[in-house]
Amino acid sequence: MKLTYYGHSALLVETEQAKVIIDPFLSGNPDSGISPADIKVDAVLLTHGHSDHFGDSLEIAKNNDCPIFAVYELAEYCRMKGAKVQHMNTGGSRAYGGFTVKYTQAFHSSSITEGDTWIYAGQPAGILLTSGGKTLFHAGDTALFGDMRLIGERNRIDAAALPIGDVLTMGPDDALLAARWLRAEKVVPLHYNTFPDIAQDASEFCDRLGQEGIQGYALKAGESVEI
Ligand code: NI
Ligand code: MN
Repeated sequence: MKLTYYGHSALLVETEQAKVIIDPFLSGNPDSGISPADIKVDAVLLTHGHSDHFGDSLEIAKNNDCPIFAVYELAEYCRMKGAKVQHMNTGGSRAYGGFTVKYTQAFHSSSITEGDTWIYAGQPAGILLTSGGKTLFHAGDTALFGDMRLIGERNRIDAAALPIGDVLTMGPDDALLAARWLRAEKVVPLHYNTFPDIAQDASEFCDRLGQEGIQGYALKAGESVEI
């Protein structure tokens, strides 16, 4: 399974069986390094509705004639905007094409804004993505929570993509404990340095992971890692 980082929380995941993108916030992020028009995928997976995750989902789904996977309310929003969708909710899994997704709990919020209107987008989620015998856990935006231990106990997680930016999600200290609880062999830090509020030193975080026997990858936008 090949992971390519496109800044913030956006990850392109490729196996021989499938190609998907998670949280494609690309055109709105000057550091993403890619245009949504250049994304070729079989599905878009969303953790929640906030604009720094929803990003270019509708355009990518339309260009690729592929579905958007999201928690029920967010999936309905996408459907009303003309997208193909696959409805999910916390605790549910679904096999599709060459991959399986399971939506997990996340402690955060989820909504969409249109002008001065707030639209409810259901519960936020983390995503367990399995394809080609490998499993990635993308935590979405979340606080540390004790049931990450359960997620680690019940799944063999090859790599975890974890927010480390603090303020809006876990910071590095909590993400370090999350990595341990998830029993992740490899970790890709997410959700840092995009805005001044969430500035973090990702190499230092990866050094700390290394001291715990976990391999950390502070990817720059456009860089990949094979897990
Ligand atoms: Ni968020
Ligand atoms: Mn976010």
